[in-house]
Amino acid sequence: MNNPLSDRINKLSTSQTLAMAALARELKSQGKDIISLSLGEPDFNTPDFIKEAAKKAIDENYSTYSPVDGYMDLKEAICRKFKRDNDLEYKPSNVVVSTGAKQSLYNIAQVMLNDGDEVILPAPYWVSYYEIVKMAGGIPVEVPTTIESDFKITPEQLEKAITPKTKMIWYSSPCNPSGSVFNREELTALSNVILKQKQDIYVVSDEIYEHINFSGTFCSIASIPGMFERTITVNGVAKAFAMTGWRIGYIGASEIIAKACTKMQGQVTSGANSIAQRATIAAVDADPKVLNEMVSAFKSRRNLVVGLIQEIPGLKINSPEGAFYVFPDVSHYFGKTLKGTEIKDANDFAMYLLSEANVATVTGEAFGNPNCIRFSYATSEELLTEAMRRIKDALA
Ligand SMILES: Cc1ncc(COP(=O)(O)O)c(C=O)c1O
Repeated sequence: MNNPLSDRINKLSTSQTLAMAALARELKSQGKDIISLSLGEPDFNTPDFIKEAAKKAIDENYSTYSPVDGYMDLKEAICRKFKRDNDLEYKPSNVVVSTGAKQSLYNIAQVMLNDGDEVILPAPYWVSYYEIVKMAGGIPVEVPTTIESDFKITPEQLEKAITPKTKMIWYSSPCNPSGSVFNREELTALSNVILKQKQDIYVVSDEIYEHINFSGTFCSIASIPGMFERTITVNGVAKAFAMTGWRIGYIGASEIIAKACTKMQGQVTSGANSIAQRATIAAVDADPKVLNEMVSAFKSRRNLVVGLIQEIPGLKINSPEGAFYVFPDVSHYFGKTLKGTEIKDANDFAMYLLSEANVATVTGEAFGNPNCIRFSYATSEELLTEAMRRIKDALA
């Protein structure tokens, strides 16, 4: 029989983070002692007060379809959160709740991009941006950044990348994979470039790691004068509240965009899971201080991993200030042969670490930077220390 699949799916790349995690799981099930530093999720449990809210929702029979864009009291709670944490005055009509921030991003691409519209992706970028933009007919325009600028796009780079076809720029801060955090001054400089253009350029500000931030500063670009109407602020509960499996994300955006996203998901999912939405009210209404313990655990792991990486010859690293990833430059090893294995690029390097050190990482190519690999440090200090010891040995 012929291939029954569409050109659309044939052209789509598999998520390399999920693929590496699946490979690590498979090797583990074969009895290999694999340490997986490949997947991006907290190794904490969802806090009890959120679980209680979900149990209560089950008992109270929240079992029917919710409004497509989310329960009104959840959207009101999200507006309070935007005001409290981000100084943003969204109304419930600006908010759409979706099945994870990933669906929020997918909706945005589908409702805003026409074929051939360009979307600037400062690289490294989160792995799914590229494919989500492509699926909507958009053209991802990668702008490589360097470790010297802490992997942050500069206003000059942004200006140079803009063409008459530029519709949007998408970024995450704190950034997955680099851990970089934009401060207000940096975002103001980027906003000035956007605001002086003749055409309307929109910004997707992915703030899902907002609370996992050690820099002491956080800025939503929508709070910069002139940027509110042209920003789609994306957030969710997956990372901060250890709720990856609950699948709730949300946006704040102008009404025309919010309505379009609602129309879109009305035909695709009918809305997010009702019980998870009820639990999310408890999460977003909570004082972010409840996260202090988890955030300080991440900070101490970040310090540990950065210190250990600095002791490994040939690896170069920036200073990650948030999320739970480090993104060392490993290009020193390209063109070398290690224990009989030729290392041509970051893919070979990541595969070498898997086979020789039993440590699963993700190649930087998946994030638009072919010189780096990504480690997630969402695991115990003991495992992180052992993983870094194995990597050091494998590279010795
Ligand atoms: C930068 C970034 N945005 C969005 C997401 C997706 O979040 P969710 O699990 O809510 O779909 C992730 C998850 O890894 C992420 O790292």
